[in-house]
Amino acid sequence: MATKTAAKAPITSALNDSDRDVTGKALQGTLLDLIDLHLVAKQAHWNVVGKFFRDVHLQLDELIDTARAFADDVAERASAIGVSPDGRSSTVASGSGMPKFDAGWKNDREVIEYIVSALSELISRVRMRIDETDKTDLVTQDLLLSIASELEKSHWMWQAQLA
Ligand SMILES: [Fe+2]
Repeated sequence: MATKTAAKAPITSALNDSDRDVTGKALQGTLLDLIDLHLVAKQAHWNVVGKFFRDVHLQLDELIDTARAFADDVAERASAIGVSPDGRSSTVASGSGMPKFDAGWKNDREVIEYIVSALSELISRVRMRIDETDKTDLVTQDLLLSIASELEKSHWMWQAQLA
């Protein structure tokens, strides 16, 4: 019995195939990193202990809101250029570039150090994608620029706590 399959490319793209593929890859990679950042920051939000518990606990939720909002922007930009976004947990687990975060209670300084390193890694990955999209799609590049700007601000604010 024949089964109905999804249309091959239901969403058209303003980009040519090659530019769409390069741009879609940059968006998909950013999506996985942002979803993972959101998950790991929630894990830290629940597991942080220490003298600065409350500050770190609340600041993590601000970062989570930022990561979630940008993940949605990035996924929807992928859809808008005709690339199906993949935010499934198994895809995130195998494709995220965020550093590992171990299970268990974490003291506040340990959490701050982790977040600084995770943001630093994410910023360098987003900046790489800003370069990659320079010739393929300036609209996507503009989104990545605004993400980098916000992440770098956040990186400063987390890093300032280690001084
Ligand atoms: Fe909470």
